[in-house]
Parts: sequence; C-alpha cells; structure tokens
Amino acid sequence: MSLSVVILAAGQGTRMKSTTPKVLHSISGKAMLFHAIDAAQELCDDVTVVLYHQAERIEKAINQKYDGIKFHLQDAEQFPGTGGAMKGVQCEHERVLILNGDMPLITLDSLESLVAGEADINMSVIRLDNPSGYGRVIIDENENVQEIVEQKDCNPEQLSVQTVNAGIYAVKKELIDRYIPALDNNNAQAEYYLTDIIKMAVDEGRQVHPVYVAEEEFKGVNSKLDLAHAEEIMQRRIKEKWMMAGVSMRLPETIYIDCQATFEGECQLESAVSIQGKSHISHSHIKTNSVVEDAILENSDIGPMARIRPQSKLVDTHIGNFVEVKKSTLTGVKAGHLAYLGDATIDEGSNIGAGVITCNYDGKAKYQTIIGKNVFVGSDTQLVAPVTIADDVLIAAGTTVAKDISQGDLAISRVPLKIVRGFFYKFFGK
Ligand code: UD1
Ligand code: CA
Repeated sequence: MSLSVVILAAGQGTRMKSTTPKVLHSISGKAMLFHAIDAAQELCDDVTVVLYHQAERIEKAINQKYDGIKFHLQDAEQFPGTGGAMKGVQCEHERVLILNGDMPLITLDSLESLVAGEADINMSVIRLDNPSGYGRVIIDENENVQEIVEQKDCNPEQLSVQTVNAGIYAVKKELIDRYIPALDNNNAQAEYYLTDIIKMAVDEGRQVHPVYVAEEEFKGVNSKLDLAHAEEIMQRRIKEKWMMAGVSMRLPETIYIDCQATFEGECQLESAVSIQGKSHISHSHIKTNSVVEDAILENSDIGPMARIRPQSKLVDTHIGNFVEVKKSTLTGVKAGHLAYLGDATIDEGSNIGAGVITCNYDGKAKYQTIIGKNVFVGSDTQLVAPVTIADDVLIAAGTTVAKDISQGDLAISRVPLKIVRGFFYKFFGK
C-alpha cells in the first residue's frame, strides 16, 4: 500500500519538567520518538516529523540515528494546535497515517489495523469509563463517526460520551490537502484542531470509520509518572517475549532488559539483573545484581554483582563477584573475584586472581593489555599497560608488571619481607 507517515512532535511537553525535549526521553533504552519512527519505517518509506519546540536538538538526534527522515517546522506562533502542525506538510503517497511522537507503546499490529480497509478516514477510538481530558468522538447508530469535540468545547451531554479520540488517524491525502488549509481556530482554545477534519469529511458524505484500540497502547506520555508507567508496560512485553523464547528469569519484575538486547539459546537471568543497550546474550547464566551494558556473552556465566561494560565480548568465560570488565575480549578465561579488566584481550585457559587490575589509563590515554593462553595471574597483580604477556606465564601474587613477559617465564616483583621480633609488645605494651 502506498502510505506516508507524519509524526507530530512539536508540542512543548511542559509537564515533563525537563530541559530534555519530551519525545527524546527514553523508554527501555530508546527515545519515545524513536519507537514511533521505527514503527513508521516498518510501514513505509516516507516519514515526516513535525517539530517546533527544541526543533534543532530533536532533528540532530534523529539524524544521528536515521537516514531519510523528512522534517517540517510548524509555524506554531501563527498556527498553534494539531491542525496547525499539519499545515504545509508534504506527503508523497495516497494515504497518510498521522501519529503522535509521545505514544511509544503502540504496536505494529494496531497501526496495521488503522491503515487497513477502504474508508476515507480511519481513526483510533478508545472506550473509557473516565473520558476526561480527551476529545469525545460522536459515533452514530451505523458505527460512523460524526465528529470529534474537544473537552473544552463540549456541552454537558457530549461530556458524558465515553468514546474518545486516541489521536491517531489514517486519512486519504486528497482530503488532507483540501481540509488542512481550510481549518479555522474558532474554538475554546483558539487553536487549529486537526480533529475538525472529521466533521469536514462527514459534511462531504465521506466515510469515517472508528477503529477501537486498547488504552494501554495509545496512552500519551506527558509526565515522568507516565514515563515510568509506560516503561513498566514495555518491560513486561520485552520480558514476556524473551521468556517465551526460552530465557529463564527469576523474579522477572526485578529484571530490566533494554528493547535492543537480544538472547539466544537457554539463558538464565537471576533477580535484579540489568541488561542494557544492544547486548547479545547467548547460552549464558547471569547471576543476581549483575549489569551488562552493550556487551556480548557466549557460553559464559557472570556474577553475582559483576559489571560487563560496553564493547566487551566474553566467550566460554567465568566471571565472579565484583569483577568489572570494559572493552575487553575474554575467551576461556576465569576471573573469580574482585578485578578490573579494561582494554584487555585474554586468551584460553588463563586465570585472573583476586584483586588483579589492568592499569589501562595514564591520565591522558588508554592502553592495551594482551594476555596469552594458560597464564596464571596471581592475586593483587597490577598490569601496567601497554603490556603483553605471552602464553604459559606465571605471575606471582603482588607483582607489578610494567614490561612484556615471554613464553614460559615467571614474573615476580616483591619487596623482601622484614621481621622485627617482639615489636608488637614494644609498641602497644604487654
Ligand atoms: C489531541 C486531540 C484530542 C485527543 C488527544 C489524544 C486535537 C485538537 N485534539 O488532544 O481529541 O483526545 O490528542 O491524546 O488534536 N502537537 C504539535 N503541535 C501543536 C500541538 C500539538 O505537533 O501545536 C503534537 C504534540 O507534540 C503531540 C500531539 O500533537 O505529539 C498531540 O498533542 P496534544 O497537545 O497532546 O493534543 P491534545 O490537544 O491533548
Ligand atoms: Ca494530549
């Protein structure tokens, strides 16, 4: 089907009480607006975002992530309101789907049902016990929409109508092109209402079809409270999807998973685990309170209380408690307790003792630590990067390694131990 999508995102979002534009607040690791753009791009190749407040900042954020999105700057001073937002928007295709930038929970299935069928306009309708705050949708006995009346313009009878406008419409482009320039602002808010196109269509004998949708999906996010509720719903969906795909989760309500994270095979997530960014977890066990950020885990187990930071890849590796790994590739490694491994490459059969630190930063730049196969790194060793340790090396506990070590060697640096007999009693007395 030939479809264009317009996403309205010019509103100020005052209730967010934030210097960040409302639509750039993220839900499960992705900006609200990007949830909408991703859905739009599944449906068509002509996507326009309407901006006004903080337009530059939002446009820049979009262009960093997407190619080919069109922008339209609303003349919000002269033409405020959702109808004003559509003024001057140029769509390429016969049908136009109008979305809001602050509805991140809409599913593709629902959008597909809105663009299905032959009606001149399909519009999203929610049935609510408490319709307060929404435009009321007046529907006749033949299930045809007659008009939308904004709450502030309702008479007492209209106020009690429980079918409300969810704010998403699929409209023939030909109607948009004629009706939008003809909108006026003769209403309680002196705004140009997009919703007035419904009455215009009905007056011309056009068919306006209500598509009933779930409140959960079409609720707008206006405050940080709404944001938190939307995140809960998104998290529930993400976790249900991965549990159905074979991932075990202990106390799933305590677990956080980014919408971009992926799992493969039988993975186990214990309570209070956080999987962030585009992490990929395959056949791995993540123990309680561990954090994985933009990292890859294959056949590995980590935690409890481990932190695997961006650009790390762990294969066949065991990571224990209080170990931090950053931008490192570990293959067949054991690091059981209390270590920092940053900018490192460590090969099969190597063991990292407790308290081992890669000193990867000199205050100006970061340097690499390369460790070969079967290296035993004793407890409390400092590896001063850049440094390369060959295969089959033994590093004694407490060693500071500041030069490369060759295959088969022992590295040991220790201050000789001094014993002062009876000193305790001399110092503290008997
Ligand atoms: C609108 C509908 C209302 C519906 C409700 C559903 C109108 C006149 N009313 O109400 O019937 O029940 O949505 O949530 O359309 N926007 C712009 N430019 C503007 C104003 C808004 O781009 O000048 C964008 C906002 O960023 C937002 C969307 O349009 O994404 C909806 O705006 P909002 O102010 O929430 O609409 P309401 O007036 O509450
Ligand atoms: Ca609203």
